[in-house]
Amino acid sequence: MTPSDVKATLSFSDGSPSIELPIYKGTIGPDVIDIRKLYAQTGKFTYDPGFLSTASCNSSITYIDGDKGELLYRGYPIEQLAEHCDFLETCYLLLYGELPNAAQKKEFDARVTHHTMVNEQMQFFLRGFRRDAHPMAVLTGLVGGMSAFYHDSTDINNPQHREISAIRLIAKMPTLVAMAYKYSVGQPYIYPKNSLSYTANFLRMMFATPCEEYEPNDVLVRALDRIFILHADHEQNASTSTVRLCGSSGTNPFAAIAAGVACLWGPAHGGANEACLNMLEEIQRMGGVAKIGEFIAKVKDKNSGVRLMGFGHRVYKNYDPRAKLMRETCHEVLGELGLGNDPLFKLAMELEKIALEDEYFVARKLYPNVDFYSGIVQRAIGIPVSLFTAIFALARTVGWIAQLNEMIGDPEYKIGRPRQLFVGSPKRDVKPLAQRG
Ligand code: CMC
Repeated sequence: MTPSDVKATLSFSDGSPSIELPIYKGTIGPDVIDIRKLYAQTGKFTYDPGFLSTASCNSSITYIDGDKGELLYRGYPIEQLAEHCDFLETCYLLLYGELPNAAQKKEFDARVTHHTMVNEQMQFFLRGFRRDAHPMAVLTGLVGGMSAFYHDSTDINNPQHREISAIRLIAKMPTLVAMAYKYSVGQPYIYPKNSLSYTANFLRMMFATPCEEYEPNDVLVRALDRIFILHADHEQNASTSTVRLCGSSGTNPFAAIAAGVACLWGPAHGGANEACLNMLEEIQRMGGVAKIGEFIAKVKDKNSGVRLMGFGHRVYKNYDPRAKLMRETCHEVLGELGLGNDPLFKLAMELEKIALEDEYFVARKLYPNVDFYSGIVQRAIGIPVSLFTAIFALARTVGWIAQLNEMIGDPEYKIGRPRQLFVGSPKRDVKPLAQRG
């Protein structure tokens, strides 16, 4: 962190002495005011629920400029990565800071590929779940359960353990997601096949059966690979902050990543892709494009509790750059599958057009986010809606790991322990039961 020549001065209207706070500069983005000594110097905390103005760490992994609609992984624009790289190259970049050269790529791909199988015992663990369990419930359990299967990679303070757990998690997530899917539809699990790419392998584990081989279609493989790239990291979002906070206690990497999976499940975060597709289907049932006006009116009515899913973002106050890429992929996939007239896609495009012109959305800078189109792509590929968030978790795993490893390697890292503004009852005495009103 580079100290700035400028300092912040905090003064109080009650005559308490003012204090000077250091400011640090990042390489890009807003400066930060260092308040670490604030409590020691003033006896006061800062108050920032939802972390609207708080940088919880310093990081060199992902940068977002929400006003410009820009997303960089290790300095590289997401548009260039989506065009020139595959998901495993992106994983390498996020984990190690640089894009791999040809030899490094070959070696990394081979390492990940040779860890795709899961301990055979895990299928018996999976069988303990109800078949109609939500895949995110299953995935939270399976990822947490990995700590009970891979004892040689559970010491978060050991760099070798962190490295092997990273490879295992990235490699095994597709296998676990596909197993959760196969279990839910009552089909036998399909084991990974090492001759296929990461993403083609996942599609095969999803859609092949022992009776019928699945021939991966290049356009669909590339589309899903792009979904993985676009979801691989997104700086200090809710699930990543959860992983960091969970890992800050020194727990094992599998437990920390399971916490991230659990957090991602929420509809305001990773669950939005599922919620968005359910919303589009609901509008379609109501009457489709003709009913958009009615639906938008509901969204604008604060009492309805209805939000336009796939719109709005805490950080992007411009078009989410991932949404632009996903929109493009959506056209490619629907074209490839001969679904160019897909009613949900048409509905989504019409909804987007109307929302982008509507004063309510314009004034609040609400633009489509990545989830607005990713659900349509996944549905076209044949992925069931309830599995969308699990696919997001699969892709985000590398980001969570990179962020966790960065935190552990940071000499300033401490257990995360936010403070509070207490507004409950002051100290009082317990009355005997008979005297309580
Ligand atoms: N539909 C209607 N109104 C909205 C929406 C929406 N999707 N999003 C925000 N608003 C309104 C909100 O009612 C508020 O209006 P007002 O100022 O009049 O009270 C204003 O916009 C600001 O909203 P906010 O809740 O303070 O914004 P936030 O930054 O806390 O929330 C968000 C961000 C993503 C939770 C929210 O935009 C939302 O719920 N969107 C729908 C869910 C969604 O698509 N989530 C996926 C995020 S992208 C995937 C990921 O990275 O996880």
